[in-house]
Amino acid sequence: MLCIFLSSLKTAHKEAERKVIAQCLLKLMNSWNTWLINSLHDLENKHLVRSLRTIHCSRQQGQHHQSSIEIFVSHAVLRAWIADASSVGSEDGAALFSVGVEEDVSTLQRIVLFSTNDYLGLSAHPKIKHAMASAATSEGMGPRSSPLIAGYTQHHRALETKLAALKGTEDCLLYPSGFAANIAVITSLCIRQKDEEPAAIFSDELNHASIVDGCKLAKSTSSATIYIYRHNDMRHLEQLLSKSTVKRKLVVTDSLFSMDGDVAPLRALSRLKQQHGFLLAVDEAHGTLVQNTNPLNFSSACKQFADIP
Ligand SMILES: Cc1ncc(COP(=O)(O)O)c(C=O)c1O
Repeated sequence: MLCIFLSSLKTAHKEAERKVIAQCLLKLMNSWNTWLINSLHDLENKHLVRSLRTIHCSRQQGQHHQSSIEIFVSHAVLRAWIADASSVGSEDGAALFSVGVEEDVSTLQRIVLFSTNDYLGLSAHPKIKHAMASAATSEGMGPRSSPLIAGYTQHHRALETKLAALKGTEDCLLYPSGFAANIAVITSLCIRQKDEEPAAIFSDELNHASIVDGCKLAKSTSSATIYIYRHNDMRHLEQLLSKSTVKRKLVVTDSLFSMDGDVAPLRALSRLKQQHGFLLAVDEAHGTLVQNTNPLNFSSACKQFADIP
């Protein structure tokens, strides 16, 4: 709408025409501003305003056996952080973090962060760092295009092959992010032909937001029905499955729940799968490699039971 107005403004010839269009434009912008202000107030009241804070990664880090990282933040950032005050990361001003400038960290607060997802410290592993640097030196950064156009290289295929072997699956498809994967996988599985009945999705109540969004999209694009079962509650899931007469059922769960640190009961899910014949999709974002040495032998259970690990 705004684009149409702007292009009309450009092409309007008479002064009067221009005036009317400019007034409409102003009205439209005012109503968007009001909407924006109201929405922000609403989010603030619900304590849902997201905070982005600049952290300053230590140059000294590189302990690949550690999952924690050392960072530095200004005292203003730390105060806002502890107070859980909303922020867009501007407490410091930009100068402190200028690229290439030798930083003076003496005035900053040193913190050890345990909240990253780098559980195995692989981001600092010397082999990975060298491989990244050498790939960038010899081939440049990034695939230069989306996979569908010309961005699917032999390196992507090699990675897919290795990941399929790791997961014990027939094949693997890379997505640019976990969010993209969940949206694509859930909506694709729920696509239906003209006369086909919609699928039913059964999703754990603590599943990651990308699974929740994937389910919502499948509902709006393919009329899939969504059932939310209580966290890891197999009785509740069984009740919901038993009531459903839908043929195509999809059960989707995180494997290791990152916020609570507990794991999905894969063996129980597998037993239910045999009874109810659903497709089981397991999001292994936090479980892959991490759980290999666990007595639960989680990853191999995932390989064994999940249709889509
Ligand atoms: C279980 C789970 N799935 C998917 C995602 C989304 O991954 P990404 O940040 O790569 O989009 C996350 C992110 O933390 C996650 O925890």
